[in-house]
Amino acid sequence: MTSTAAKEHAAPAATPETAPPVWRRKDLLDLETLTRDELVMALDQAAGFKEISTRSIKKAPALRGKVVLTLFYEPSTRTRTSFSLAAQRLSADVVEIAQEASSAKKGESLVDTARNLQAMGVDLIVVRHQQAGAPALLARSLDACVINAGDGTHEHPTQGLLDIFTMREKFKDLAGKRVALVGDITHSRVARSNIWGLKKLGAEVGVVGPKTLIPGALKDLGVNIHYHLDEVLEHYDVFNILRIQLERQASGLFPGMREYHLRYGIDERRLARMRKGVLIMHPGPINRGVEITPGVADGKHSVILEQVTNGLAVRMAVLYLCQGAKELPRDAK
Ligand code: CP
Repeated sequence: MTSTAAKEHAAPAATPETAPPVWRRKDLLDLETLTRDELVMALDQAAGFKEISTRSIKKAPALRGKVVLTLFYEPSTRTRTSFSLAAQRLSADVVEIAQEASSAKKGESLVDTARNLQAMGVDLIVVRHQQAGAPALLARSLDACVINAGDGTHEHPTQGLLDIFTMREKFKDLAGKRVALVGDITHSRVARSNIWGLKKLGAEVGVVGPKTLIPGALKDLGVNIHYHLDEVLEHYDVFNILRIQLERQASGLFPGMREYHLRYGIDERRLARMRKGVLIMHPGPINRGVEITPGVADGKHSVILEQVTNGLAVRMAVLYLCQGAKELPRDAK
């Protein structure tokens, strides 16, 4: 082929409109500031990684030679284990630190702790902290990637992503799907991440719970607010049920466990009134018999353990994308 003919057959040069989107964030701090394209990119990347966990040798070399640190100032079963396994599946070295075992106990600041760990060659820091904004503070202070694993009542972006990933696997397209979040919305970082992510994908989002546990300002985000669960059982395609935070009872925000269960608990009687293909979700940990009965949690509509499985793929995607963004040439950032 002559060079003129080759030019004629060449694919047209990518323009800003046609070029595939590139992930440019070294940190994942929230779903609020993610664009729709970025959200979809993370979900698509996770879908690609999910297969790795089904292999007999569950490893890919994508983060070989990198060091991932999990720095948890609050308890965790799912998120911490899932990030550690995700990093190991991508062949990274993993170090785990919990607050009780760190020099925070001796008065060292979070930023000083993280800077010292970065000085040992840590590439990615996954942080859970009781203070909203702590991961953002670290992201501004470090060259390492910072991933928010839950900060106070602000956001839990990878939980939001894994919830949305699970819904997308079932429904393909979330545009027009109706998703209800049930429980303590005010104090839930999971609810906030779900709301931001789901709205970007065109889902209809509602929150259900006692008046004392729902911020009225959610109306301004286009979220439906309901105080009576029994009135909306037939309306939603998904019920994502939040853990009732037992400590809130002491502060008088709801009358008691029994009362809460009677008004907002998802049981077999309520499940029977829901739509035929309804999805029952819960981020965990579950208070069985309070916000959900064992029969519903373990029943055929429940995708609670699928959420956990999907969390691994989502966290592999987030680690991979953020590290990739850090390594982009300066002029591509
Ligand atoms: N869903 C969730 O964040 O669970 P853990 O507290 O066990 O990490």
